[in-house]
Amino acid sequence: MGKGGSSATDQYLLTRVRESGRESVDFDNLGFGDVFTDHMLVSDWHDGAWSTPRIIPHGPLSVSPAALGLHYGQSVFEGLKAYWGITDNQIRLFRPDRNAARLAASCERLCIPAPDPETFVAAISALVSVERNWVPRVRGQALYLRPLLFASEGHLAVRPAQTYTFVVIAAPVSEYFGRTGRALSLKAEERFTRAAPGGTGSAKTAGNYAATLQPMLSTSCEGFDQILWLDGREHRFAEEAGQMNVFFYLDDTVVTPDLGGTILPGVTRESVLALLHDWGIPTEERRLSMDEIQQAAGKGRLREIFGAGTAAVVVPIMRIHHLGADICCRPPKHGSLCARLYDALLGVQHGELPDHYQWTYRVT
Ligand code: COI
Repeated sequence: MGKGGSSATDQYLLTRVRESGRESVDFDNLGFGDVFTDHMLVSDWHDGAWSTPRIIPHGPLSVSPAALGLHYGQSVFEGLKAYWGITDNQIRLFRPDRNAARLAASCERLCIPAPDPETFVAAISALVSVERNWVPRVRGQALYLRPLLFASEGHLAVRPAQTYTFVVIAAPVSEYFGRTGRALSLKAEERFTRAAPGGTGSAKTAGNYAATLQPMLSTSCEGFDQILWLDGREHRFAEEAGQMNVFFYLDDTVVTPDLGGTILPGVTRESVLALLHDWGIPTEERRLSMDEIQQAAGKGRLREIFGAGTAAVVVPIMRIHHLGADICCRPPKHGSLCARLYDALLGVQHGELPDHYQWTYRVT
């Protein structure tokens, strides 16, 4: 089951907090990103090498006000989770190697030196190992790990920095959209664009998220949960939904927009496609126009829409507002494909189901 994980903390400089903040956290009412664990991991890049990672009390970093990461957005991040084993009390990371690979790809696009994948996974494991008491025991909840890598050099010319900071913080979380099974309403964004061909859409970089805030606020004032981003050229093709990738169950096939450089290559997206393949459900990764979705819905061929992401897990979508009209799906029900995927993923993540793919990595 899973890959054997080692997380010897002796390769890290560990400074423990005097008193843990865990007792004051209401684990029965976790949100997403409101509370953080006691420690964080920090390493710096100087003279072509990473410093020995320090696991230190979670707190403010000292950063130059001229840091290139702050001014010009030379900054990338990741998101992954550690899960409590419901039946065996083991802690598992889910596909941290895929986050390491995506971080490396984001780093390449932003001219940032990437930690090598083994070091990345070992660093995450070491922090989780120190924070093991913070991993929530409840199915669906997890310890969310947020690795961040930014240009720390203070300089004002627009150029890649010569120094960087890598920091990993951890937060016990519930699912991003709250109550399991609540179906979301999306609005297809007609005016603004998240990513354009040749841009940074497939990188997990700060600027991609900053650019979505203004449209997100107005969409949320109109009562929608999320934006469905359309392609930057014509605003005709579905791309991704805010914090997750999006899937359309049309007739007997699940269609998801293909990764053409403008879409984030989600680890959950990749896992959903693998599960569907295993279950014999045809999948297509291709361009999918709003017209096609609208027509399929009109003919009763649109069976389900759902989103998938690390923070979001797998969530049903019941409505997409597009050009003044609603594209609706049947309300989510027990036994839907979305629910089946949710259960299968959580089952593996929490160690309740066999891990055929060796997706999990045990933290010792
Ligand atoms: C994740 O799913 O880990 C994400 O990065 C989404 C996040 C921006 C909330």
